[in-house]
Amino acid sequence: MARNPFVPSFGTDPHVLVGRDSILDDFDEAFDEAPTAPGLSVLIAGQRGVGKTVLLNHFQHTAHRRGWLAIAESASPGLLDRLTRDHLPRLLAAHSPEAPTRVRSRSFGLAGANYQEQWEDRYPADATLRSQITEVTDVLAKHETGLVITVDEVQSASIEELRKLGEVLQHCRREERPVGFAAAGLTGPLDALLDHDGVTFLRRAQRYDIARVPVADVAEAMDQTVRHAGREFAPGALAEAARASQGYPYLIQLVGQQVWKQHPETQLITAEDVTAGAIAARRRMGNNVHAPAMRSLSEVDKSYLLAMAVDEGEPSRTGEVAKRLGVSPQYAGVYRSRLLASGVIEDAGHGKVRFTIPFLGQYLREHVVVDAMSAIADSAGIDQ
Ligand SMILES: Nc1ncnc2c1ncn2[C@@H]1O[C@H](COP(=O)(O)OP(=O)(O)OP(=O)(O)O)[C@@H](O)[C@H]1O
Ligand SMILES: [Mg+2]
Repeated sequence: MARNPFVPSFGTDPHVLVGRDSILDDFDEAFDEAPTAPGLSVLIAGQRGVGKTVLLNHFQHTAHRRGWLAIAESASPGLLDRLTRDHLPRLLAAHSPEAPTRVRSRSFGLAGANYQEQWEDRYPADATLRSQITEVTDVLAKHETGLVITVDEVQSASIEELRKLGEVLQHCRREERPVGFAAAGLTGPLDALLDHDGVTFLRRAQRYDIARVPVADVAEAMDQTVRHAGREFAPGALAEAARASQGYPYLIQLVGQQVWKQHPETQLITAEDVTAGAIAARRRMGNNVHAPAMRSLSEVDKSYLLAMAVDEGEPSRTGEVAKRLGVSPQYAGVYRSRLLASGVIEDAGHGKVRFTIPFLGQYLREHVVVDAMSAIADSAGIDQ
């Protein structure tokens, strides 16, 4: 029985990457023109599940293909420490000809103590990020390669750490060192981050705002994915499966996986498999995407979303939402701004907003047990 080729798993490269060809071309071009290409500094913005991490992976793959080294990090606190105490000493140990002792094991999974001990002599605790990157890139430049650093979830970074990292990167640019940098984050919080003074280097990066992809391209990718794995769609079933994804990258994988699972032993994927798979996929969206997205929201935030859910997937007029909640447009506006900043909703133009994640409205109606009116009325009573 052929293995299910779909990967509904955050950060996992899909079998076919839909709708991102021009970005991948830009990555290629940037590395071809290294070290001076502006495209070597990249910022990827988008909503949950649209494929930001996967694009960071591809930035690294592009670098690896040219023999560059890459460090992949997430922007949780301690980022700089991890770079200077773990990643960079490890790369220096493996690649610097001046290494005092060659490391015996190349098993990068065993980070930490061993490497740290061996490098304590040459790289005392005060060794800066800048000197480490300088040393690594001095070595790599001789081989016409370089170093790539990717930082995921950049909206969660400490401004101070980003500022320091930015300074080092800007020095590298001035010295034309072969350093590539790519960061990714959720649009709303990322835009808030970019307002800070310390992150000029992020504002100067080549920015990509990624979103859903065309359903026609999804059909082609699903067809190819399934054929490569040895099965095929019955006539009509493919278009239906693609439509069920709504062009939302995470759903492409989830729908694909669930459709495939219906009768994995048969050659043909039928329209019935697609119908059943699409229902199963929608159910799983709840646990995997909707519930986590709701976790950081207050009851009042959720009330606002519930009032939007009445529109059943269509964009909601913000004035209308305020009316449904029984509060003033100004008051509702405060919550609208918070939700926009959190990335759960987005501006749909003409005074309207919409959910960024498919089926969120439906999920809220079915799962969020909250007395919308009383939550918002209580809060309005206190705050207004
Ligand atoms: N262009 C694409 N074509 C097909 N599948 C994709 C594409 N981009 C991402 N995916 C799939 O979508 C899922 C989510 O991708 P990824 O983890 O990169 O999203 P993300 O934007 O980083 O999400 P989050 O904001 O939650 O971190 C993964 O299963 C991935 O394989
Ligand atoms: Mg991600």
